[in-house]
Amino acid sequence: MSLEEIKNKLENLEKQAVAEIAQVNDSSGLEIVRVQYLGKKGELTAVLRGLGDLSENERPVIGKLSNEIKNCLAKKIASREQELKDQHEAVSLANLKVDLTLPGEVLTQGSIHPISEVMAEICAIFNRLNFAVVEGPEIETDYYNFEALNFPPDHPARDMQDTFFIEDKVLLRTHTSPVQVRVFEKQKPPVKIIVPGKVYRHDADVSHSPMFHQVEGFLVDEGVTFADLKGVLTLFIKEMFGEQLATRFRPSFFPFTEPSAEVDMSCFACQGAGCQVCKNSGWIEILGAGMIDPAVFKYVKYNPEKYTGFAFGMGVERIAMLKYGIDNISLFYENDLRFLKQF
Ligand code: DAH
Repeated sequence: MSLEEIKNKLENLEKQAVAEIAQVNDSSGLEIVRVQYLGKKGELTAVLRGLGDLSENERPVIGKLSNEIKNCLAKKIASREQELKDQHEAVSLANLKVDLTLPGEVLTQGSIHPISEVMAEICAIFNRLNFAVVEGPEIETDYYNFEALNFPPDHPARDMQDTFFIEDKVLLRTHTSPVQVRVFEKQKPPVKIIVPGKVYRHDADVSHSPMFHQVEGFLVDEGVTFADLKGVLTLFIKEMFGEQLATRFRPSFFPFTEPSAEVDMSCFACQGAGCQVCKNSGWIEILGAGMIDPAVFKYVKYNPEKYTGFAFGMGVERIAMLKYGIDNISLFYENDLRFLKQF
């Protein structure tokens, strides 16, 4: 073949390839065209194999031309490939019909458990009075739960009937009061502490559960009197239940306080007139309290001549039941969303 013939052939090949590239409709078809023209056994290569007849001057001319054609075709193939890809994407987007007017999925929002909420509310009131929150272990020793709180060895609370024992002298705490002793051991007066937490007792009916929550509070300093206790608890009851409520302190007994008191508030449901909530008494018992017994101070080496203090303890479930009119304690632990959603 002469130089002119080869040139013509190459140019025709190029035209033909360009036309085919433009016609191809998918990437596998495009690959076939690429192999057909640019592959090792392709047509362009075949033409270049027949260069033997050309003179030394002619060969570079054809070499250059064929390289240009090769590059040009490669570029066209690449851009056609991108074009096909874009088309494909556009079609799938068009087929994907999104109805923007459909309502979205509503996320269900959780709420704070009524026990957590009441406990937080109690702590917040005492925080405003500068009481600091401290927590203690739920697995306690006999020493902290009973002995150092001045429970005599034969006290009924120390019986298996009332307390969950883990080992001989290890138990699930029956109240949050042991945290008093733990704090006193570590800290010198003044101490002003509030202790929220879980407690355990062998007891179950509509108003008792084997696990429940208490908040304990105590204050020790020089010159603390029963009047301080009355002031703090009266203020607490008003903040928690209502400004108009009266408080009443009745003599009682706890091993770790002397004197001890049971504290009532006038019934918030009937304002003291008598109703179902207060069992017609006009009063609702709300917490236990007292002046910390000097016997407790002896265990922690506080000087009872120098320091006095008060303590109080309340059941969170009881307060939550009163506050929300709930008549069965087990509702708090069943995790029934229909119940929990109401708070
Ligand atoms: N620990 C008592 C109980 O669980 C409650 C209590 C009463 C706590 C009087 C006190 C207190 O700190 O002074 O029944």
